[in-house]
Amino acid sequence: MDAVAQQNKKILAGWRPSDKNYLCAMQILDGKKTAQSIKDELKIEVARLANEGKKIPHLAAVLVGSSGASETYVAAKVKACGEVGFKSTLIRFEDTVAEIKLMDKIIELNNDPDVDGILVQLPLPKHISSENIINAVDPDKDVDGFHPVSIGKMVQGLPTFIPATPHGIMLLLKHYKVDTRGKHAVVIGRSNIVGRPMSILLSGNSNPGNCTVTICHSQTKNIKELCLQADIIVAAMGKPGFVTGDMVKDDAVVIDVGITRTADSTKKSGYKLIGDVHFESVAPKCSFITPVPGGVGPMTIAALLKNTYKSCIQKN
Ligand code: GUN
Repeated sequence: MDAVAQQNKKILAGWRPSDKNYLCAMQILDGKKTAQSIKDELKIEVARLANEGKKIPHLAAVLVGSSGASETYVAAKVKACGEVGFKSTLIRFEDTVAEIKLMDKIIELNNDPDVDGILVQLPLPKHISSENIINAVDPDKDVDGFHPVSIGKMVQGLPTFIPATPHGIMLLLKHYKVDTRGKHAVVIGRSNIVGRPMSILLSGNSNPGNCTVTICHSQTKNIKELCLQADIIVAAMGKPGFVTGDMVKDDAVVIDVGITRTADSTKKSGYKLIGDVHFESVAPKCSFITPVPGGVGPMTIAALLKNTYKSCIQKN
């Protein structure tokens, strides 16, 4: 086996090359490392605020029910707050909670001057309207960037809170100086959380940005043909291993947003995370690729922390 193949084998086993020692054109976009450097910077900023006797950022996370995945994500967000010195409050409700009770809590958090950011973990149980809840969050505390005011500003290219996952992906592309200008980006998935805001950000007059964007979804007929034309692919439709090597052209940049849990008795948790990209066949063709785990996931959390810090600073 040649050195490049050996390297790729090590990457697949969880090893990540440093800037100095990767051997082939394919570079891993290391979200874990990049997120850590963002958290390190935030930690310094928080210490500075504390030294100056100023307010420390405070994130309030609302979790309804006890879905394993949502529990894990919210726990990771709360843990990250602790790591950088933010205050955080986790508010839990049974999955039978009435919408009005949840609404009352949002209004209470809106009116609490100590709370800078409000996050309601999605999805919510079917009897609750996510739209009503999202619309109830004060846009000045909307660190998820899901409120129509935040989305509207983002579409207009105005300063606002950018949804954490696409924001994290933009930060990752910037960190690795990935050239996006004039490139054809294919975004697979049209959710309000990832696909739609991602398509808007990549098409914006910004760096990263200035892409020509195609957005694909469940009714798109020729996804493979479109992907084969893509310089950049963002896979965000929640179908494990959907994007395979035969769908990707040479030197493409591939961003994998998928994080489907599948049973794995060899893991302590009992599951492993599978991305929307079939890494083994796609990675060797890429110029850049995100791994799962350790790619987009940690960047989503870093972006949420950045939004919460920004909200706090705007009030200080
Ligand atoms: N569910 C999946 N992704 C997200 C996210 O970024 N924010 C919230 N609140 N819920 C989610």
